Amino acid sequence: MLLAVIGFAIGGAVGGWSLLQSTNTENQDDGGGHEIVSAKIGGTFSLVDQDGVARTEKDYAGKYKLIYFGFTYCPAICPTELSKMAEAYLSLPSDIQQNIQPIFISVDPDRDTPAVMKGYVGLFMPQLVGLTGTPAQVEAVKKDFKVYAVKVPEGSGSDEYTVDHSSMMYYLTPDGQTVAMFKTGDSVEKIAERIKGSLQLE
Ligand code: NI
Repeated sequence: MLLAVIGFAIGGAVGGWSLLQSTNTENQDDGGGHEIVSAKIGGTFSLVDQDGVARTEKDYAGKYKLIYFGFTYCPAICPTELSKMAEAYLSLPSDIQQNIQPIFISVDPDRDTPAVMKGYVGLFMPQLVGLTGTPAQVEAVKKDFKVYAVKVPEGSGSDEYTVDHSSMMYYLTPDGQTVAMFKTGDSVEKIAERIKGSLQLE
């Protein structure tokens, strides 16, 4: 099933995907009936949060991470996926919530300033951290997570554009290993069950 996910995302056809596609044929089971994403996907970043504080993955050490990449001007997919993330997270018992850090990372650093991010993440849940950064920082995290995102002009002005991007929710262990990727068709219940399952394996 994960191959279908990759097939969907590969529509953007960037170089990094070929490696991802080939290594994902080696997915294994983690013993709890779940796929393990064996390719090295993501885990590190150096960005700035919605309060303007520099952040890396080390700031969230010891926690599982639920990460979604998008942009605040996104008209439909991002709000839908972040609402789903919030609903799944908030459905979990509080002791599990404390072990999970939900994160939204912008792929539109030119418009998504920390102040813009602060207003946006607060719409979903207070626990959601919003990360943005310089264009170079954002490019680095996109590359690390093999995220596809490119500007598509929608007018003549420099800020008149949308961002065509892959839509995937990443689930990482506390040591930064991506163990699941949820696609747009995955339900709130599926996400919540996967999270609960991973914590019960410990
Ligand atoms: Ni979007």
